[in-house]
Amino acid sequence: MKDLGMKRLETDRLMLREIKLDDGPEMLENWASDDKMTSYMSWSSHKNLKETRAVIHKWVEKYSRPLGFNWVIQIKETKELIGNIEVISTNASQQLCQVAFCIGSKWWNKGYTTEALKPVLKFLLNDVGFYVVEAQYLAENPAAGKVLMKAGMTKDGVMRKRYMGKNRPMELVMIRYSVTANELGKR
Ligand SMILES: CC(C)(COP(=O)(O)OP(=O)(O)OC[C@H]1O[C@@H](n2cnc3c(N)ncnc32)[C@H](O)[C@@H]1OP(=O)(O)O)[C@@H](O)C(=O)NCCC(=O)NCCS
Repeated sequence: MKDLGMKRLETDRLMLREIKLDDGPEMLENWASDDKMTSYMSWSSHKNLKETRAVIHKWVEKYSRPLGFNWVIQIKETKELIGNIEVISTNASQQLCQVAFCIGSKWWNKGYTTEALKPVLKFLLNDVGFYVVEAQYLAENPAAGKVLMKAGMTKDGVMRKRYMGKNRPMELVMIRYSVTANELGKR
């Protein structure tokens, strides 16, 4: 695999770029404090800028580590930052990684996440050279499954009783999708 570092990716409507320390106020306002969105995530809504800045510091630090990928999603026309797509885990010996994504609920159902995920999958599989990219989401959030399917991924299975943290019951079901480079090329 090639450790290419963070590469800017672009689509018709979106710029996917590295996050910067001064993106804090927008990240807090547009997605990190969004209770509707974080209800599907393992982390709680941020309560203040200090919390968001601490997360951004970790993300920036991650860029210097091998295969440390995390793109903030920006609408080109308005320059608004609306969410992020991150490689949350990698297994280099298996050439496997897992992505996760979120965007503020104000921008849901406009096709943004699907549009952003497609070049990320291409980059990870075709350029970096992962064999497979996986993603998983809470079954109670079918929109996430739709995004994965529309981006070219296939359902692997259902994982029973997976814990998502944040004082939620252990019984929550998660659904796993994946795609290989060969499969993506055929779509
Ligand atoms: C999942 C999430 C990223 C979707 O973002 P988005 O930008 O709205 O996604 P898109 O617009 O590209 O696609 C959403 C699709 O889901 C569909 N959808 C929305 N609500 C749905 C529902 N309740 N049931 C089924 N499909 C639904 C939309 O109609 C759309 O499909 P379409 O284009 O065929 O009409 C966003 O809801 C989010 O941030 N959720 C919280 C974080 C999360 O769950 N992340 C996934 C874990 S990795």
